[in-house]
Amino acid sequence: MTKLRKAVFPVAGLGTRFLPATKAVPKEMLTVVDRPVIQYVVDEAREAGIEHFIFVTGRNKTVIEDHFDIQVELYDTLARRGKNDVLERLRQLQPEPGQTSFTRQQEPLGLGHAVWCARELVGDEPFALLLPDMIMQSEPGCLKQMVELFNQTDGNILSVEECDPSQTHKYGIVGRGEAVAGGFRINAMVEKPKPAEAPSNFYISGRYILQPEIFSLLGRHERGAGGEIQLTDAMLKLMQEQPFHGHHFTGQTFDCGSPEGFVEANLAFALARPDLRDHVMRMMEQAGGK
Ligand code: G1P
Repeated sequence: MTKLRKAVFPVAGLGTRFLPATKAVPKEMLTVVDRPVIQYVVDEAREAGIEHFIFVTGRNKTVIEDHFDIQVELYDTLARRGKNDVLERLRQLQPEPGQTSFTRQQEPLGLGHAVWCARELVGDEPFALLLPDMIMQSEPGCLKQMVELFNQTDGNILSVEECDPSQTHKYGIVGRGEAVAGGFRINAMVEKPKPAEAPSNFYISGRYILQPEIFSLLGRHERGAGGEIQLTDAMLKLMQEQPFHGHHFTGQTFDCGSPEGFVEANLAFALARPDLRDHVMRMMEQAGGK
């Protein structure tokens, strides 16, 4: 059994749904309570045992690289002021030297193309892929749950959740085969189908464990839905050679790529914080009474 060591984070997207906030700040750096969105996703990967964090970035994203670096002046100042608790919290979130890599997707050609850009950094081993728009709340985290299924089944694992059947055109949709512990064998995949053409209402919710053979399929650069190089299309081809299983994730997922999901995430993570919970509850009660 190969240990899952590497994770890829495609962070090249423009974030047009969040303008003007994302004019100068990458959408992955918007904060949910007091952490940037990308930090939640990296923490989820670390909890699952990931040792190397690969970011596929684009222009204007260097601040993400800075965020995962040591800020010497800041750390010195905090130490001088005796703010050791804050310093310790920052250190805990800090990847070890050499644990991060950054490469660029030079053109916005789709998710499949972004993943393909990481091929040299991943090499010939299975890897996790985490879409940073989606942040998840569960104990243990979604990727850690998926690793358990991966260790039992090998092959490829996708996190899946149910959506309203009218919403299938927004997602990659999978077909449901025989049941396995915590999920099922995937027997079909379609990117953004109309409801009538969807094989089920289970959508791919942004966490993947993939075998490296995906890269040669992505390297064909075939265009799919929306004229983009789609990961789902390459996975469908790989499914002819290797098993894919869906892990039915039952925690909370927030689509931080949309304003609604982003606000929900802020509320949910604030409510999960003992120091903020009462304050937010009071505010919501007051708003509800108006
Ligand atoms: C991507 C994937 C899709 C998946 C979705 C989850 O789509 O292509 O299969 O269901 O992420 O958010 P995008 O949201 O980039 O259009």
